[in-house]
Amino acid sequence: MRVVIVPDQQEMGRRAAAMIAEQMRAHAHFVLGLATGSSPLPLYRELIRMNQANELDFSGVITFNLDEYVGLPPTHEQSYRRFMDENLFNHIGIAKGFTHVPNGVAKNVNEECAAYERMIKDVGGIKCQVLGIGRNSHIGFNEPGSSLASRTRVVSLTRATIQDNSRFFARIEDVPTQAISMGIGTILDAERIIMLTYGENKADAVARSLEGPITTSVPASVLQLHPDVTWIIVEDAAGKLKLEWGR
Ligand code: F6R
Repeated sequence: MRVVIVPDQQEMGRRAAAMIAEQMRAHAHFVLGLATGSSPLPLYRELIRMNQANELDFSGVITFNLDEYVGLPPTHEQSYRRFMDENLFNHIGIAKGFTHVPNGVAKNVNEECAAYERMIKDVGGIKCQVLGIGRNSHIGFNEPGSSLASRTRVVSLTRATIQDNSRFFARIEDVPTQAISMGIGTILDAERIIMLTYGENKADAVARSLEGPITTSVPASVLQLHPDVTWIIVEDAAGKLKLEWGR
């Protein structure tokens, strides 16, 4: 694993964008896995800047997002589709048909999950997957206990995750209790993984995932098994790391 500790969120975004841009330019067609939440926002701002400065072209790019709430239509203010449109897709000239977010209101959600997996496979797999980490170390919505072999499926959110995500909803009762999420197995299939994290509230999860044993109780610890993972960590989230990590 590569671990890069940076002073601030802007630098985290710049480093991640530079890595993605380099990989993207080396491929005529590129499949990019994306996350929602606050962690990737500095990256998305930098990708938008690069695109608008004619430094990066998204016309050959296909995207797949990690997850979506079950029960929220794409137009819902808190749906992940809407988040992605507003924070990235609307600003980089990408055809919407090339962007994929699971459909949380599909008639048959299990069929939606299977179709999502098939689509990823049909385009040759994800070249680079962007991740954030939850306080309980979840990746995607793979909560502690998720199997290493898990694929895209419907998952129930833990109380901790519902609590964390309630900041975006008027009332905690409005937070959906289920989501469609790529599985740990789906994520590990990506050729390269970039984990972005900042904030003191993530320091425990970061330390347990990077320096603790590999266990499904700490979902991000399974990234230790992947041959090409880069963690880009802002200093405030690195405070509990004990090893040197090249500093
Ligand atoms: C989002 C996702 C989640 C978030 C995680 C961190 O698509 O899959 O795993 O990455 O909950 O969220 P933030 O970045 O908001 O702290």
